[in-house]
Amino acid sequence: MILPVILSGGSGSRLWPVSREHYPKQFLNLHKEDVSLLQEAALRIKDIANSGEPLIVCNEEHRFLVAEQMQQVGLKDSTIILEPCGRNTAPALALAALAASAVNPDAELLVMPADHVIKDTEAFAHAVEQGHMLSQEGKLVTFGITPSSPHTGYGYIKRGKALTQGFLVAAFVEKPNLEAAENYLKSGDYLWNSGIFLFKASSFLAALGQYAPDILQSCQAAFEARTEDMDFLRIDEACFAECRSESIDYAVMEHTDQAAVIPMSPGWSDIGAWDALHELRSVDDKENGNAIHGDVMLHQTRNSLVYSESRLVAAVGVDNLVIVETDDAVLVADRRQAQDTKLIVNALKAAG
Ligand code: GDD
Ligand code: MG
Repeated sequence: MILPVILSGGSGSRLWPVSREHYPKQFLNLHKEDVSLLQEAALRIKDIANSGEPLIVCNEEHRFLVAEQMQQVGLKDSTIILEPCGRNTAPALALAALAASAVNPDAELLVMPADHVIKDTEAFAHAVEQGHMLSQEGKLVTFGITPSSPHTGYGYIKRGKALTQGFLVAAFVEKPNLEAAENYLKSGDYLWNSGIFLFKASSFLAALGQYAPDILQSCQAAFEARTEDMDFLRIDEACFAECRSESIDYAVMEHTDQAAVIPMSPGWSDIGAWDALHELRSVDDKENGNAIHGDVMLHQTRNSLVYSESRLVAAVGVDNLVIVETDDAVLVADRRQAQDTKLIVNALKAAG
């Protein structure tokens, strides 16, 4: 049985002002009109053979949002793990693996970020099937995407020896600098890490114990001191606060020799910032390369994302802009600098 684990702890600050701390991007219908990114991730598992209801790891603050959104798509038996604070993905996955092994020591986890879009769910299910044998053998399976640019926000996976399905991982480099990313792209030997993983809970916990034993110890203590109420599994705050903040990529994937990769092309995108949403939705106005949402009027406007929530937004004669309107804030940005939106959020936070 494959247990889908959905990581839903990010704050989505690069998608401000639509994504807010109390209501981050994964809970918004950014891709499809009728479901949120989180619901899309949860529904994706329907195509995967032998998978159970998902386990969701999120911040305590979002517990009712998660529970309600799961109910809405008919997933009433999901397990929801509540983190008292964010400690990045290695601790979040340690908690998921500990919770899964408490029920089934052989549990196999399919880790999916809550903020990704996968257009071809059948192709994805096929890739997961291919990875299944490898994860059963104890491998930490990643799913690799053919890179289309030297993006420095992704992990890069160097393909090693070919296996019956997929490849061994010869090297894993998390978020390289631009020069290295350009070389990786040119070489043709590297794939982007999609951030989706498949492994037995026991394989992950063993690797974490080997490469980041302090994280494993803190998470074990925090998990043991958990409380359970209604549908929620609450992690102990004092113990979890002690834990080091680290991603699975830095804590485990860069070090392990047990990684394998299944290349896949299911129309994957990480909705990290407005430029990614533009790329995904520029079919809205294909001729001019614009992505539009809400009440929008455009004249001689190209390659732009114009997103309106509460008022009519009009643009004339502009190119490569991101314009996002909400009730209380408007963002205007150069599309190529959309990643820097988080600097505004940081400045707002600092200003209190
Ligand atoms: N529960 C929980 N707790 N979830 C978290 C936490 C946390 O503390 N921190 C992040 N997440 C969730 C995010 O919501 C997202 O769904 C997922 O974990 C990945 O975190 P990101 O912060 O979005 O990571 P990233 O995009 O910078 O990098 C990762 O994904 C890339 C592909 O999208 C890495 O795995 C890269 O190697 C990869 O290329
Ligand atoms: Mg991400």
